[in-house]
Amino acid sequence: MSYQNILSTTNNGITTITVNRPNKLNALNKATIAELHNAFKAANKSKDSKVIIITGSGEKAFVAGADISEFADFDVKNGGKLAAEGQKILFDYIENLSTPVIAAVNGFALGGGLELAMACHFRVASDNAKMGLPEVSLGVIPGYGGTQRLPQLVGKGRAMELVMTAGMIDANQALAYGLVNHVTPQEELIDLAEKIASKIMRNSSVAIKGAIKAINANYKDGVDGYKTEIKQFGKCFGTEDFKEGTTAFLEKRKADFPGK
Ligand code: COA
Repeated sequence: MSYQNILSTTNNGITTITVNRPNKLNALNKATIAELHNAFKAANKSKDSKVIIITGSGEKAFVAGADISEFADFDVKNGGKLAAEGQKILFDYIENLSTPVIAAVNGFALGGGLELAMACHFRVASDNAKMGLPEVSLGVIPGYGGTQRLPQLVGKGRAMELVMTAGMIDANQALAYGLVNHVTPQEELIDLAEKIASKIMRNSSVAIKGAIKAINANYKDGVDGYKTEIKQFGKCFGTEDFKEGTTAFLEKRKADFPGK
């Protein structure tokens, strides 16, 4: 597939998707969101893609937000539609993918950029990264899931402060908040994400898929996470991966899982 606003490459089981609008600090316009949807969909389907890493092009920004020039003249109806469509095709979509998604936050992750990172299964950041949800400074609120995912990740009080002040936190503050899992010099960021991806790839992708569903269930209205866990746990017992994983342990060898 060819893209105008993103790059997508797959090597050794890892698909790296790069938002590639460095002149606009990788801001998310409609076309980029649609391309990201297609790239995530393709990677999730592909047997060659066991972990997805998303990052931004250049050294300055992961994604500096939704493209403000595209929505500056929207009315109430269009504003609501923008958030609903974006959440459906990209942000909720990523969160619910069965392939693990790591955000490698390599600079500014603001507004829709931080929301994109937060929709991923977890985040690592370079030491120059800056994160925030500055929407109220523009007269709007976060619309791509930020008001829900930020408090889940950092707690309600910190989320309230960050949103109300429209402030930015640096990578170390984000680490202390639990918003990112690791901080590294920028030149080592992709290496770090790939190292974590390699560890993930040693495990059963079928079991990981079930674990993602069970963990996500905790954050879904009307869904009982414990029941989801029981169901997903039980399902594992009917899989080739379970046979291989337990047999390998008992035979004192490394498991060789059939793959995605
Ligand atoms: N939407 C559209 N364009 C954006 C953008 C966004 N969210 N963020 C940056 N850009 C564009 C700028 O307009 C500029 O384009 P131009 O050169 O054609 O004028 C280019 O990216 C570079 O940005 P610039 O502002 O000149 O860089 P800077 O280093 O001075 O400042 C930021 C960096 C991130 C502090 C600043 O770009 C910014 O505040 N961006 C908006 C952040 C935001 O509010 N995001 C939430 C949106 S809901």
